[in-house]
Amino acid sequence: MNQVNKPIVTQIEEAVQNIPGWCPIDQLLLLFTLAHTSADLDGDILELGSWCGRSAVAMGMAIQLSGNSKLHCVDLFPKKEDWHKTPDGDYSLSVNIDDRNVVAYAHGGQTVWAEAFERDIAPVYEKFPGTLEAFNTFVAENGLSEQLIPFKGDLQSFIKNASSGLKLRMAFIDGDHNYHAVAKDIEIIERFLVPGAWVCFDDAFSNYPGVNKAIELHIIHSGKYSQFQQMTRKFFIARYIG
Ligand SMILES: C[S@@+](CC[C@H](N)C(=O)[O-])C[C@H]1O[C@@H](n2cnc3c(N)ncnc32)[C@H](O)[C@@H]1O
Repeated sequence: MNQVNKPIVTQIEEAVQNIPGWCPIDQLLLLFTLAHTSADLDGDILELGSWCGRSAVAMGMAIQLSGNSKLHCVDLFPKKEDWHKTPDGDYSLSVNIDDRNVVAYAHGGQTVWAEAFERDIAPVYEKFPGTLEAFNTFVAENGLSEQLIPFKGDLQSFIKNASSGLKLRMAFIDGDHNYHAVAKDIEIIERFLVPGAWVCFDDAFSNYPGVNKAIELHIIHSGKYSQFQQMTRKFFIARYIG
């Protein structure tokens, strides 16, 4: 339950303290703020790439305050057996969605290093059967099960199942990081953005050339967005003009 007189940054820190993930507190505060201040726009929020719910909880706390929308959390929600070792000893992901094999982190430079896998990913599976169970647990612990709607799949399967009237006032893209994947994610999400909607990216202008190229070509130079800004070390935002 939100406490209006307690700094929201403290409340977010407390809410996510046990949730594994990669979003630092400055980025979570910005996600909260954009979700909070865009509440007067029409539409829901979509997150592509939720993992255990760390960033989703920050946005969910804003949605809880305004009470007028949902956060769709689209993720492959992999189980441990969905991770495969590459010939280089790194890890990539392959998840069966609607009889399709959806592959992520498979291209050169985008695989998950073995060290990162052992440190950040394997421990989640010691506590939970899969990341969907982890997500549901952390979301319930924070009282946000009504606001946050998980969807196990990729964007293609999500839009096939989404209501025909879906509108988005904000989207946070943090899924597969290769250029073609991010470009496709932008193309799909854009169909649902209302004018004035915010699009945000994790891992922008940091270590992922595919994310940078997709942002440069399909956001900055597309003529469809304004107010572009790198906000923190790896968090980029832009506003959809329409
Ligand atoms: C870096 S994690 C997300 C971290 C999360 N935003 C947080 O704050 O902790 C990336 C997530 O993207 C998901 N993912 C990767 N490729 C995907 C795809 N094509 N469709 C849906 N989810 C995908 C992975 O399963 C993983 O959970």
